[in-house]
Amino acid sequence: MTQPFRIGIAGLGTVGASVIQILARRAGDLTQRCGRPLQVTAVSARNKAKDRGFDLSAYRWFDDPVTLAKSDDIDCFVELVGGAEGSARNAVEAALAAGKHVVTANKALLAKHGLAMAQAAEAKGVALAFEASVAGGVPVIKTLREALPGNEIARLYGILNGTCNYILSRMELEGLTFAECLKDAQRLGYAEADPTFDVEGFDTAHKLALLTSLAFGTQVDAEAVYVEGISSITPLDLKMADELGFRIKLLGVAERTKAGIEQRVHPTMVPKTSAIAQVMGVTNAVTIDADAVKELTLIGPGAGGDATASAVVADLVDVASGSIHAPFGLPTEQLAKASRTPVQRHEGGYYIRLTVHDRPGIAAGVATRMAQAEISLESILQKRSEAAATRDPHGRSGAPVSLVLITYAATEAAIRSAVEKISGDGLIAEPPQVIRIERE
Ligand code: NDP
Ligand code: HSE
Repeated sequence: MTQPFRIGIAGLGTVGASVIQILARRAGDLTQRCGRPLQVTAVSARNKAKDRGFDLSAYRWFDDPVTLAKSDDIDCFVELVGGAEGSARNAVEAALAAGKHVVTANKALLAKHGLAMAQAAEAKGVALAFEASVAGGVPVIKTLREALPGNEIARLYGILNGTCNYILSRMELEGLTFAECLKDAQRLGYAEADPTFDVEGFDTAHKLALLTSLAFGTQVDAEAVYVEGISSITPLDLKMADELGFRIKLLGVAERTKAGIEQRVHPTMVPKTSAIAQVMGVTNAVTIDADAVKELTLIGPGAGGDATASAVVADLVDVASGSIHAPFGLPTEQLAKASRTPVQRHEGGYYIRLTVHDRPGIAAGVATRMAQAEISLESILQKRSEAAATRDPHGRSGAPVSLVLITYAATEAAIRSAVEKISGDGLIAEPPQVIRIERE
């Protein structure tokens, strides 16, 4: 009988439990594919007594993932605990030092320590596989690492966080509040243990940093990513976007520019007719612009137990079959240091929503500041709130109104400077909302 490929899993939550279930459900097919059984021999989580919907007695239990990671019982350590430090980091480092293959879904860990961990894996000749860490069930890591060596990649962008896309979609389509949508995303197992990582854009930034390394042959550098999340997006912005023919998506964009690789994560207005605008709910999408293939888009479930476990199992099959790749596509010594391009250099269209005092001359004052910064306006829209319009149908109340500007292409630096001056002029009653526009 061929020796089984022995797997130790730390973390039996949303993803870990699904991995165990898929390995059990598809045991026969997976054995055929790998030429040997994939056998879970040991597990670790915080609470041994928790009902996880399956029988734990078949596996050796470890209270400490680090001890499991070093155990002689396993060939491969699967880290599904989460977090960039603590148990997850210690256990992965211990596994690699002990010469065990590692499979993980932990983008926070790899965005911070990916280079050092890839070096450790390389030194021991073991795998460090992380397909599940970006875009859940969508095989984007494999695509970048293995399917596109004949291409020079110019840009990649996409929706990389299921929780944010789920929240924005339901707020827009069902008129639910941000808090209601986030609660549902947590209940469905989409959100991170600390959902701030999702809604403030850090999770997308971690994923983008990993994709950038694979796409551009650079060292992972999450610090180089400019990050804004979706917590400041209001129902009014979603309504305005709709009226103006846009949808709001949290996009991660990595682009080769003359000044280096630009990496940014921020809410983005995309035309309602664009392909990316059709991506709703927990679905993720990544578009890769490259010289030979031109444009390639991958779309699929970006979070959730089964979808993510599907990617973990794919990595396990690769490793058990002896298909071991350089984690970031190239030997680590060949990965270039990523250059950092400040977002102030970014150039594009902007949506600017100003809550202005409803007085004569205000719109002119705003327009003057924009003209001084050499920003051309594509459209300008003034909206009174429904409450103000009901209170005073003739519009003489002086209550604040929304003034929405859509600009033609301008630099981030020019937009920031103009908005700062408008604030300084005392024309606005609330902090301004600025959202970048991508027209594809
Ligand atoms: P969960 O919070 O559902 O599960 C975490 C698991 O880790 C739990 O079983 C928990 O134990 C265990 N755990 C936590 N701390 C320790 C510790 N110190 N020692 C041992 N076990 C510990 O997380 P997910 O399954 O959602 O996520 C796991 C990883 O996968 C994270 O890195 C996440 O970012 C990533 N990921 C998640 C996706 C998703 O859709 N959920 C998608 C893609 C990636 P106990 O159950 O006893 O509390
Ligand atoms: N919290 C993450 C998301 C999980 O919502 O996309 C998948 O990485």
